[in-house]
Amino acid sequence: MRQVETVAALRAALRDAPRPVGLAPTMGALHDGHLALVRAARSECATVAATIFVNPTQFGPNEDLDRYPRSLAADLALLEREDVDCVFTPSVDEMYPAGFTTTVHMDGPALPLEGAARPGHFDGVATVVAKLLLQSLPDRAYLGRKDGQQTAVVRRLVRDLDIPVEIVVVPTVREADGLAMSSRNAYLTPEQRAAAPVVFRALSASRDRFRAGQQDVAALEDAARRMIEASPLASVEYVAGVDPDTMAPWGGLGPCMLAAAVRIGGVRLIDNVILD
Ligand code: PAF
Repeated sequence: MRQVETVAALRAALRDAPRPVGLAPTMGALHDGHLALVRAARSECATVAATIFVNPTQFGPNEDLDRYPRSLAADLALLEREDVDCVFTPSVDEMYPAGFTTTVHMDGPALPLEGAARPGHFDGVATVVAKLLLQSLPDRAYLGRKDGQQTAVVRRLVRDLDIPVEIVVVPTVREADGLAMSSRNAYLTPEQRAAAPVVFRALSASRDRFRAGQQDVAALEDAARRMIEASPLASVEYVAGVDPDTMAPWGGLGPCMLAAAVRIGGVRLIDNVILD
C-alpha cells in the first residue's frame, strides 16, 4: 500500500492504475463501517484508494473538530490488511492552501435535517468531496448509508457538477445491539453506550409498523420519538420521514427514509432506516 500526502503524488499514483478505481473517502478513526466501504470497493474495483482527512470546513465553530478521534497509525494498518492500494493522507494546508477561497454551496437536499442543525456542514462536505473526487478521478466512490443525507448530497453534487463518478451506497454496519457504527461512538460513556441502541430500536419498530400497513409517517415519527425519549439519557433533535433523494418530507410515493438525530448525554448520534 502506498501512502501519499500530496495531490501531485496521488495523481501520479492513480494515473496509470488499473481501472476501475474505487475510492473510499473517510475522516479516519476507522471502524468496521469504513472497512465495509473498502471491502465493497475491493470486491468491485481493480484499484482501491482510501482517503483519511479530518475536514475542518465541515465542522461548525462549536463542534468537535479538535477532539475528533485520530488514529492514523492504526488506520493505516487496517487499510493495509484490507489490501488497499493507495491511501491519501493530506494535511490541512495541502487541501486548503493559503488563498483558498472556493466553496461549493448546496441547497436542495443539503438544507433540512443535518443542514438545518449544522449550518455550513454540507457546504464543507460538498467542497471536500468535490476536491477529493477531482484529485483522484475514481470510477466509483463508496459512501455509507448511515449518513443518509450525506449520500443524497453527494449524489446531487456529482450530478450537478458533471463529475464522472458512480456513487455506491454501502449498507450501515451495526454493533451486535443495533447501534450504527460511528467514530463518535467513542465519546459515549459506558452508561450512554448502553442507552444508545434505543435509536435503532425505535426506528426499527416504526419500520415494522410501516411494513404492517401503518403508512402515516407523522404517526411513525411520533412513535419513534416517544420511544427514544422514554430513555432518560436521550433527547431527540429530529425524527423525520423524508424522500431519500430530495430530503423533502415524504410524499407517500417511493421509498421513505426515516432519519433521526439524537443526543445521548452530550454525544450527537444520527441513524436512519428505509421504510419499504
Ligand atoms: O463521511 C465522512 O467521513 C466525511 O463526511 C467525508 C465524506 C469523508 C468528507 O469529509
